[in-house]
Amino acid sequence: MSISVIILAAGQGTRMKSKLPKVLHPISGLPMLHYSIKAAQSVSDDIYVVLYHQAKLIEEEITKSFDNIKFVLQDHENYPGTGGAVMNIEPKHEKVLVLNGDMPLVTQEALEPLLKMDGDIVMSVFDLPDPSGYGRVIVKNGEVQGIVEEKDATDKQKSIKTVNAGVYLFKKEVLERYLPLLSNDNAQKEYYLTDIVKMAKEDGRHIVPVWVEEEAFKGVNSRYDLACAEEIMQAKIKEKWMRSGVTMHLPSTIYIDSRAQFIGECELENGVTILGESIINDSHIKAHTVVEDADIKSSTCGPMARIRPGTVLVDTHIGNFVEVKKSHLKGVKAGHLSYLGDAEIDEGTNIGAGTITCNYDGISKYKTTIGKNVFIGSDTQIVAPVTIEDDVMIAAGTTVTKDVKSGSLAISRTPQKIVENFFHKFFRTGKKDG
Ligand code: UD1
Ligand code: CA
Repeated sequence: MSISVIILAAGQGTRMKSKLPKVLHPISGLPMLHYSIKAAQSVSDDIYVVLYHQAKLIEEEITKSFDNIKFVLQDHENYPGTGGAVMNIEPKHEKVLVLNGDMPLVTQEALEPLLKMDGDIVMSVFDLPDPSGYGRVIVKNGEVQGIVEEKDATDKQKSIKTVNAGVYLFKKEVLERYLPLLSNDNAQKEYYLTDIVKMAKEDGRHIVPVWVEEEAFKGVNSRYDLACAEEIMQAKIKEKWMRSGVTMHLPSTIYIDSRAQFIGECELENGVTILGESIINDSHIKAHTVVEDADIKSSTCGPMARIRPGTVLVDTHIGNFVEVKKSHLKGVKAGHLSYLGDAEIDEGTNIGAGTITCNYDGISKYKTTIGKNVFIGSDTQIVAPVTIEDDVMIAAGTTVTKDVKSGSLAISRTPQKIVENFFHKFFRTGKKDG
């Protein structure tokens, strides 16, 4: 489609009360601005992101995931406000879609009704029982007459329930004509983009309101709004995966990153957290397990396991209180209370309770390699770098510091001593053993 998109992201976001710029606050794993850009990319090949406050930081973050985005620096000192933000841009196409950067729930489908309409300005509106925080839209005879910001509104105007959702489709020529005529004669001393509407209306232009689904156009101004937007997004993410074959128990207690993927039939129990770019394939993740940037196939994890970045599990069983980091496990059982870090463990191997890979010496991380059919007894420490070959038994309580050859037993233990009658003497029980 031949439209240009301008995304406004130069504001300070004062109401977030945060050092991090508002548009970089994450929702379901990604900065808010990421979602507006994604929506923009679905409809346009000519995208501008307007920046000012912490521009460098935002640009760096966004260029990590997107190319082809044109960053524009707003002349914020002289022209603050959403109108100022749109000045000095020369869009390629005749139609210009303006999006706020603080609308993480907006999608291609949500934008479609706007893009279909014809008018000098097409603008998104919705009705709210409590319209506070939004600009109020005056609609008469099916056309918009003007927009009044809350801070400039009279009590009567404040009672208007129709609000400006903050997405507009302008004819480029309309922007070119009215942007230079904006003034900052208002409560915030800012150049409001919304004032173009009134001026254009007075010249007999057609300003068409489109009632949109509130959910998709929810603006995030405070951390409370951020939490509300994330809840909506989480519900959508979970619905999508449930519809494609993922069973979820008590989905309201489950958190899933927007980048996570599920393949085949998966089951997630209550309290599960799936973070980052995890890929879960035909697996069962049990209650209160946390998975981050891991690849899990035909496996079970938890309850209460932690699977950390860089982990790959195939045909593996991970039980309760087991932490796995940057390790590849294939056909392995690690049922209880273990830490497996920087390890490679092969088929048929059993990791006893309390096994720890000592992968860090305070300076560097080292690798542990464990072969096939190895039986690691409980309470074993494996001091990396070390290799345990196939068909090995490690006795319970062993500290493995040297490589173990195939077919052997490794054992390091202090021999057990028996001191008879010790208990009765020590506690002066007056008794004696047989
Ligand atoms: C704006 C609208 C309001 C609408 C609401 C919808 C104006 C004047 N008001 O209000 O009618 O109901 O959005 O969510 O447009 N920005 C810049 N440069 C600036 C100021 C802001 O790029 O100088 C960006 C912000 O980063 C943000 C967006 O514009 O992404 C909206 O700014 P914000 O201050 O949140 O406007 P609202 O008060 O929410
Ligand atoms: Ca806003």
